[in-house]
Amino acid sequence: MKPETPRPIRLKDYRPPAYLVDKVDLDVSLDPTCTRVRSRLSVRPNPAASGRSGPLRLNGEHLELAEIAVNRKPLAKKDYKVTDVELTIARPPAKPFTLEIVTFVNPEGNTALQGIYRSNGVYCSQCEAEGFRRITYFPDRPDVLATYKVRIEADPEEAPVLLSNGNPVERGTIKGGKRHYAVWHDPHPKPSYLFALVGGDLASIASTFRTMSGRKVDLAIYVEHGKEDRAAWAMDSLKRAMRWDEERFGREYDLDVFNIVAVSDFNMGAMENKGLNIFNDRLVLASPETATDTIFEHIESVVAHEYFHNWTGNRITCRDWFQLCLKEGLTVFRDQEFTGDERSKTVQRIIDVRKLKTHQFAEDAGPLSHPVRPESYIEINNFYTATVYEKGAEVVRMIEKLLGAETFRKGMDLYFARHDGEAATVEQFIQCFEDASGIDLTQFRLWYSQSGTPELVCGLKYDKAKKTAELEVEQVLPPTPGQPNKKPFHIPFKIGLLGANGHDIDLQLEDGEEVTDGLLSLTKRRQTFRFTDVPSRPVPSLLRDFSAPVNVTIDLDDPDYELLMAADSDLFNRWQAAATYATRTLVEIVRILGSGKSTARGQRYAKALRAAVSSDGLDPAYRAELLRLPTQADVARIIGKNVDPALIHRAHKQLSRLVGRTLGDVLEDFYKSLADKGTFSPDSESAGRRALRNSALTLLTARGGKRDLALLSKHYSGATCMTDRAHALYLLAGIGGKEGDRALQHFYDQWKGDHVVIDTWFAAQAQSPRASTLKRVEDLTRHPLFSLTAPNKVRALIGSFAAGNPVQFNRPDGKGYAFVASQVLALDAINPQIAARMLGTFRSWRALESGRRAQARKALQRIAKTKTLSPDVKEIVSKMLEA
Ligand code: BES
Ligand code: ZN
Repeated sequence: MKPETPRPIRLKDYRPPAYLVDKVDLDVSLDPTCTRVRSRLSVRPNPAASGRSGPLRLNGEHLELAEIAVNRKPLAKKDYKVTDVELTIARPPAKPFTLEIVTFVNPEGNTALQGIYRSNGVYCSQCEAEGFRRITYFPDRPDVLATYKVRIEADPEEAPVLLSNGNPVERGTIKGGKRHYAVWHDPHPKPSYLFALVGGDLASIASTFRTMSGRKVDLAIYVEHGKEDRAAWAMDSLKRAMRWDEERFGREYDLDVFNIVAVSDFNMGAMENKGLNIFNDRLVLASPETATDTIFEHIESVVAHEYFHNWTGNRITCRDWFQLCLKEGLTVFRDQEFTGDERSKTVQRIIDVRKLKTHQFAEDAGPLSHPVRPESYIEINNFYTATVYEKGAEVVRMIEKLLGAETFRKGMDLYFARHDGEAATVEQFIQCFEDASGIDLTQFRLWYSQSGTPELVCGLKYDKAKKTAELEVEQVLPPTPGQPNKKPFHIPFKIGLLGANGHDIDLQLEDGEEVTDGLLSLTKRRQTFRFTDVPSRPVPSLLRDFSAPVNVTIDLDDPDYELLMAADSDLFNRWQAAATYATRTLVEIVRILGSGKSTARGQRYAKALRAAVSSDGLDPAYRAELLRLPTQADVARIIGKNVDPALIHRAHKQLSRLVGRTLGDVLEDFYKSLADKGTFSPDSESAGRRALRNSALTLLTARGGKRDLALLSKHYSGATCMTDRAHALYLLAGIGGKEGDRALQHFYDQWKGDHVVIDTWFAAQAQSPRASTLKRVEDLTRHPLFSLTAPNKVRALIGSFAAGNPVQFNRPDGKGYAFVASQVLALDAINPQIAARMLGTFRSWRALESGRRAQARKALQRIAKTKTLSPDVKEIVSKMLEA
């Protein structure tokens, strides 16, 4: 049990640790309920701390302390104090000393999945952010760096495979074969959150990698027996990621081995433990029959992400958890760049911007809004957010924009050289770019401290006589929790001006200054740019390549959007114009439906889309993106207040149907001409063809005709890969009826024995907009294959319902909210981290119309007044109800 009201931790209170630990010797004897951890630490007072070496405070939770000794002498009871959360030694030696501690933990009873736990019988660990303190008493903070030597002992039948960080040293059998052990050594000093161990009966695939300096690295991926062939794609991705980091950033791997282990029960996607990455198995296992192209793509990017942490996170780690974006934002930026290079830059940018807007913009517009570097937290696990990750990546991307690719690389090189082996801060990171470029980034630093999404309110005036165009830009900075007033940001704003023929006009500023690459630099609240030699009224193409994480508003007419969609030389902005045009059309339809009238609006947009998607020279993957209408959540976010999700759902259906009809022949043509021939390949071109075909199918079935339904059923039954199969299943589950039930039953029969694939079956039902869905989801919580202790199941069923089914989660009777609230409470007793995540699905509740808002408030208040809440859930629910 933690203290009653946990106190917030504040950035401004940071103090260096009083003691450092240079060496950690662990000896872990694995047992299902009584695992013994013997730890020997080399401790010394920190010369950089205040000077006086006061008490030594070690974190520790859910531990049973058995022995404690300093310099080999057992401590008397009066020499130390143990509470539920820490162990304090009042007067440790003033000189370096060894501290030996024996603790016992219970892996099987560990449902929070932090520390050492069991997943399907496999012993594994998760320490980030503060899980090491559930293994042994330790200064569990990222600025205490030590080398680790780890001995693991286990029953050889239960756990023939024994892994930890670093390089293997030794293994052997003891006790007449009843136990065996393995010793691992990690020569690179690391914080405790990067510690990991695994013990289990696992199969593996192996390969090797030759680094840029010619060293050989043994690679292995450990999976459940019988799933070996499904690990090949992850291995392939790993090798490509290792090569890419050498070529693009000059980063070489630094151990003799690199291991990945797939486990079924995992709170997150994956974890970058030094030399021993642990993955949620849904992000490792893939074959054409079991995984969609989207999963293949995720595997590639998550494997890369965790690998890239070896330099951005592990070699250079974070001083404290307020600096989380230093490793996560930067590493997301790196994995985005990797995927862009491996696949298509433009399509990748579209996917990343979509994700940013859906998750981060929504977060930033609600009660959970916080800066990329928060100033305080109660539970750090609540801050692994879209803001820290996705906006954090955008901030790095803006630095690259402002400096140019070459200078940016120099800044990165400097960062690696200057801070290798250290626990660094955001300031030190930015300093490297200032030093490498000579550019003053003082104002730019505001991106780390000010929350909220800036709005750039733009206007364009054309003077026909003078042939000048004036672009006015105002930064509107909406208030966010704790931040009523804001300073203007330093914003890279990339633009173009299109002439009547759709071609780019040369950008020439009045003062004769040339604008390189269309990049303007905004630093003031209001700025005007006057362009000369503009032959005719131009159409502005703003925020090209999404050069900053902002909203842009400008008064454009339908024909302006149509020109941008058809002709913008910047393909990203062509897509952006299509998305904005679609959104404003949807908002308009919602408004008309809301006033009780009917409307046929959308015709112009559909025609423009038809022309855009039929343009020459576009990749199928890109065309597929054009055909993906904005989501209902996107529309809700733009409407911003008094949101009625049922109206948005109707409007969305109506526009989808209209687009399906208007583009029918084009879509049918895509569908027919792009069918897979030959064997499946997960490469991005093949995936793009399948994506376009499936996008077309979505719109064709939106027409709702008999023939469309027949085509959909055939798409399901004739599918030769999971991409097509799952796509059809989601659509069929949404339609329901005989066809829907038949497909769900078929899918269940085929995949009930596969705990990864069956999640698609749960999710498809949870996302169905049909009125019967809530009842079905409630029933499914009692299904034998469902379990509240398995995070993937919770995400597939409850997460998909709350975050992927706006119309049924937001039922006007409030039963959707009540259901999710009950699940959050049940989960909180099992796994607080997952409970808090599920609760996050309420983040936009204040934007709802009054009836639903009242219902959502009721559900949140019920959670808030529950006595035994975890700090995780308590922190989120209080923020939700504040103000
Ligand atoms: N370091 C995180 C994993 C993590 C997150 C551990 C939160 C503890 C608490 C890891 O590098 C990560 O970011 N994983 C992501 C996937 C990634 C591709 C963005 C995840 O798990 O979702
Ligand atoms: Zn990460």
